[in-house]
Amino acid sequence: MALLRLATTLLGLVVIICHLTPTARAGIGYFWHVTDFHYDANLTGAGDGSCGNGLNKKNGLVGNNNNQQGHQNQHVVERFGSYRCDSTWQLVVSAVQAMKSITGEDIEFLLWTGDSAARWMAAPGDDGKSRVHDAVSAVSLLIRRYFPGTAVYPVVGGADVWPRGQTSFGNTAQPYHELANLWRVWLPPEAEATFKKGGYYVIEQARLQLHLIALNTNYYSEVNHATAENDDMDPGGQFAWFESILLKARRRRGTVYIFGHVPPGIYERHYSRQALHWFQDRFNRKYLNMVQSYSDVIAGQFFGHAHTDSFRVIYDDNGRPISWILLAPAVSPREPGLAEGTGPNNPAIRLIKFNTNDGQVLDYSQYYLNLTEANAIGRAEWRRAYNFTQLYKMPDVNPIALHNVAAAMLTHPNVFQNYYTVNHMLRDGLPYCGSLCRQVHFCSATQIDYADYDDCIVTALMASSRSKASSWKNHFTSTCWRLILLVIPFQFVLGNKQL
Ligand SMILES: *[C@@H]1O[C@H](CO)[C@@H](O)[C@H](O)[C@H]1NC(C)=O
Ligand SMILES: *[C@@H]1O[C@H](CO)[C@@H](O)[C@H](O)[C@H]1NC(C)=O
Ligand SMILES: *[C@@H]1O[C@H](CO)[C@@H](O)[C@H](O)[C@H]1NC(C)=O
Repeated sequence: MALLRLATTLLGLVVIICHLTPTARAGIGYFWHVTDFHYDANLTGAGDGSCGNGLNKKNGLVGNNNNQQGHQNQHVVERFGSYRCDSTWQLVVSAVQAMKSITGEDIEFLLWTGDSAARWMAAPGDDGKSRVHDAVSAVSLLIRRYFPGTAVYPVVGGADVWPRGQTSFGNTAQPYHELANLWRVWLPPEAEATFKKGGYYVIEQARLQLHLIALNTNYYSEVNHATAENDDMDPGGQFAWFESILLKARRRRGTVYIFGHVPPGIYERHYSRQALHWFQDRFNRKYLNMVQSYSDVIAGQFFGHAHTDSFRVIYDDNGRPISWILLAPAVSPREPGLAEGTGPNNPAIRLIKFNTNDGQVLDYSQYYLNLTEANAIGRAEWRRAYNFTQLYKMPDVNPIALHNVAAAMLTHPNVFQNYYTVNHMLRDGLPYCGSLCRQVHFCSATQIDYADYDDCIVTALMASSRSKASSWKNHFTSTCWRLILLVIPFQFVLGNKQL
């Protein structure tokens, strides 16, 4: 009798364990984050191409209107592209094929954070509308072809509309209806409705208890004339809508991911005291406040645009790390044209591993293509560059872990070197990163607010020159810093920004 009871209990336990295991496993999922394809149809990849540099030295704008200072890069563009140009079709295809061959369609969804069209130097009066539309359409169809059964969630990048970076296209009630037509296959009707009006939407995944919030951050960009030239605090009504979604998620005890193209905060590869950023200051502060107020429901923020592999930590008023942003590197190898000498990257795609129950990001694997090698062997071999938990020796992606990585960048040269190498996606011939360069990486990772960033840079530089000021050599260094700090702001013209 006792034996029978024991046997039944054991059987019961086995049944429970068998029942639990698949559920526990089902709690782990993957999604791709791919960004900044910048497909340039003018590059044939047959070695005969040239690409518009389009970098206006004065304002960093990539050839929107009259861009006399931009110039064409006349040089050989091989099959998979060139570090000086945007992507050839072969490169775009190889990135999508790589994602497919690594995971198949065994992913929860794919986040695609914009800028699918190239940045070419437009001639005066050039109407780029159809060229932009053709590029976005080609990339959309390609992704659909390789991922026919996958939920794909796109956002609008500055390069996906014409005129570039704008959110005002005349008196149309549905400014994004053409993109909505392209992306209808992926957007549920409610998402399509808000997207058509404002370029933003939310996906409420009943199964995952995770809301995906797609923002149209072009509204907040400094190059956006419609919003830069008035003091509207909530263009497109996006902030009010955003907050209503965050409140709803909090009431349901759910979590959200936020994703968009242009990120808030400071660009980490502009090595001068004069910070380079994209959001207009008032929107940068407003976004930051929103994240601080709702950090309890925000499980992750994912942006593109910078083309570099980096991250941001967001703190509360007491300096406690409470949220983070992951910036995914671009498919396009070309230097972003944000500031001279910031340099190109190897093409990249990112696979994120997460807990499907609460959205906690567990790890990510960063894949890249060695562009030099691909062109040399005539074949694209995408490889894993690193995964987060291994490279930084952290348990998962959380605000404290990222805060610790940022802090270690200043104290542990090997941590900084790892970060700096992947920040350029393992490109060959990286320039040396000195003290100012390292401070810029650190301060941009830890300060979203522009004034706080300025304080961070000045404090750090003064501290480092003070602590060293014991020998004549260090006196000399410290004097140099003071001089540099005085001179730099005049060298870099305000508004050195691009889309
Ligand atoms: C791209 O190709 C089109 C059509 O051939 C041409 O009109 C245009 O000038 C080219 N643009 C660039 C930047 O080469
Ligand atoms: C990280 O790397 C290890 C070993 O290289 C691998 O087994 C693991 O699956 C990777 N993690 C992710 C998220 O890909
Ligand atoms: C990329 O390929 C080039 C040419 O084969 C090689 O010299 C370089 O070391 C490679 N870079 C990496 C990170 O593997």
